[in-house]
Amino acid sequence: MSHAELITRFQQAGQGHVFAFWADLSPPQQHALADQAAEIDLAEIARLHRRLVAEATGAATASASELAPAPYIALPGNGGDAAQWAQARTAGEAALRAGRVAAFTVAGGQGTRLGFDGPKGTFQVTPVQAKPLFQVFAEKILAAGRRYGRPIHWFIMTSHANHDETTAFFAGHANFGLSNEHVHFFRQGRLPAVAHDGKIMLEAKDAMAMSPDGHGGSLRALHRSGALDVMEQAGVDILSYFQVDNPLVRCIDAEFVGHHLLAQSEMSSKMVPKAYAEEKVGLFCVQNDKLAVVEYSDVPMELQRETDASGALRFSAGSIAIHLIDREFARRMAAGGEAVELPFHRADKKIPTLDATGNPVKPAKINGVKFELFVFDALPFARNPIVIETARADDFSPVKNADGVDSPETCRADQQRQFARWLRAAGAELFVDAAGMPQHALEISPLFGYDAETVAESWRRLVPSPNLQQPLYLS
Ligand code: UD1
Repeated sequence: MSHAELITRFQQAGQGHVFAFWADLSPPQQHALADQAAEIDLAEIARLHRRLVAEATGAATASASELAPAPYIALPGNGGDAAQWAQARTAGEAALRAGRVAAFTVAGGQGTRLGFDGPKGTFQVTPVQAKPLFQVFAEKILAAGRRYGRPIHWFIMTSHANHDETTAFFAGHANFGLSNEHVHFFRQGRLPAVAHDGKIMLEAKDAMAMSPDGHGGSLRALHRSGALDVMEQAGVDILSYFQVDNPLVRCIDAEFVGHHLLAQSEMSSKMVPKAYAEEKVGLFCVQNDKLAVVEYSDVPMELQRETDASGALRFSAGSIAIHLIDREFARRMAAGGEAVELPFHRADKKIPTLDATGNPVKPAKINGVKFELFVFDALPFARNPIVIETARADDFSPVKNADGVDSPETCRADQQRQFARWLRAAGAELFVDAAGMPQHALEISPLFGYDAETVAESWRRLVPSPNLQQPLYLS
């Protein structure tokens, strides 16, 4: 399409202002803006603005009567069936030995809350070695591949904003030991932000204010990028999905995979009991007879505080954003169509933009809307989706805020408590305080061990035992 045709299309859609400064731009800048404009589905933007802004009826809070707590498979220690977990483990290990599972990290977010400038996966998170998040996952994936005798593929979704920096980071660190053949990057889609009147916002004279389309955009992007075909060729049919912000995650979890397979589920999830009623995690609910995650902000607070006869929270199943997704389910969701369409969500934001004369504006209050897809919105479309319980201390300690809850400090402490638990379970004479913290800084490389069992195996082989009365890194 020529530039003139593109400009006419935008004018016809009431978005001609995107080219307001066209005459001021150099030819390369004009090309850059035209390339961006060609990416945009103007009808989709108009539809999203109409549905989510112009005709929106207020808060999307679900009504109490349409929500029930979701059922889940409890841990053996919490009333679950130990035989079922053992069976799951056997099934999961067989799938891993057959190379059917790939790891999948969504790393396209902007990480603004942490205040860290750079792809979040490059954030240094471990307590002794200060390894970046990406290295922690890479070593867990490498170690699991060795354990099951099949190298594990790892798919990483980036955004336009962080793709080049992310791939350069991996290249600069030789993929942290993984072979090129097993690490795959692809970019998620993006959408322009709009002002409340539906006008696409400019970030500069030659650029619209574009933002990633949410982690739910991963299903489309997996398909569009050809990643699903790569998986098919490699014999992978299950994706182990996790977020870039959580170094405690079991990237590859045989029991989870086994439960997923035994239930013939197309998408499965892990839950932890909420720590307190106001904890800001999505909640697994049954909504209109379907399993769904409802964001904490959309569940009425009185419902979140409701307790049962034993005093436990009625809605306790918190989503920690860990899922298994069947390859062919992702393909079906990506194809879209009325029957399987993920809904967009609206996020009101302060978006740096330009005024009518082209001067930059740093808004003091909310001035626009971004649109995002959420991956958990695929759950209601999946065949037999299940939820299993996991221990928070073994799967979840995200880095989200610069300080306070879910910060680098809380995460480093949670990692050390986990390392200490593993070593003590292996028989090491390690002293911990009442909160389970070791006296000296402690870190265990996933290549030494990535769960109680693998750590115990490596520990038994260590002769002589290392000195535990000083900071320690086991690798
Ligand atoms: C998310 C979940 C919440 C869950 C919590 C657990 C949503 C809306 N909420 O909250 O239910 O309890 O995690 O930690 O998801 N990402 C992309 N592309 C995007 C946007 C995000 O790849 O366009 C990735 C980020 O890089 C990150 C993850 O998705 O890995 C989470 O994104 P974030 O927006 O930080 O979610 P939370 O609000 O923390």
